[in-house]
Amino acid sequence: FDTGALAGKTVFITAGPTREALDPVRYISNHSSGKMGYALAQAAVDAGARVRLISGPVNLAAPPRMDVVAVQSADDMLAASMKGIESCDIFIAAAAVADYRPVAVSEHKIKKGAEEVMELRLVKNPDIVASVAALPNKPFTVGFAAETQDLQTYARSKLERKNLDLIVANDVSQPGIGFNSDDNAVTLISRDSVLPLPQTSKRQLASQLIRQIADLYNRAQ
Ligand code: PMT
Repeated sequence: FDTGALAGKTVFITAGPTREALDPVRYISNHSSGKMGYALAQAAVDAGARVRLISGPVNLAAPPRMDVVAVQSADDMLAASMKGIESCDIFIAAAAVADYRPVAVSEHKIKKGAEEVMELRLVKNPDIVASVAALPNKPFTVGFAAETQDLQTYARSKLERKNLDLIVANDVSQPGIGFNSDDNAVTLISRDSVLPLPQTSKRQLASQLIRQIADLYNRAQ
């Protein structure tokens, strides 16, 4: 019997980058290490939640006491997020999903040609967190916003555009925080509150975030 702030709740968390294949040996991706999402998953388990961690390719060990689903592309991550979403109470999107993928995946390795300039055609990926937040019975939905300028303005517009309950604004232009660092510093924004959480380890920050998310979730019920 668990008395944690999220006892009996089911939490889905996306983490890490996605990989969008160009051909059998190449892909488009980004610098997400998965550390932030994995720390959130751990903190949610510690708060008593049942957790599904939907993870892009990272170099982290699968944490214990949770269901870990390994995915590669944004399409895979969307499918893994939607599977059993009816049981999800809180959805947290910490993954750095590629916004675009190559229009076509070449069956064979693309050969180097005579041309000096090569053009790639990309098509938009589905927006996972927005798809979840558009469900008629949507879970309490928390997004991240990784920005290099106008942090709060862009974060707030993502909160509204994607119909989220909360957004975690992450300034990824600052050295020592954001992508791949062990530390992070964020601002937690809802429609009527702004809470800065200063720089600390991603583990510490994850427990602070889970405490705040649980609080706001419980108040919204
Ligand atoms: O993994 P780490 O190295 O620990 O780094 C942590 C982090 C910097 C990746 C993390 O703190 C973070 O900011 N994650 C969000 C990164 C991102 O891609 O943000 P965005 O502003 O592009 O996307 C906004 C939100 O929409 C995010 O919740 C994202 O998961 C979601 N999204 C975006 C595109 C898409 N196709 N589907 C989505 O669900």
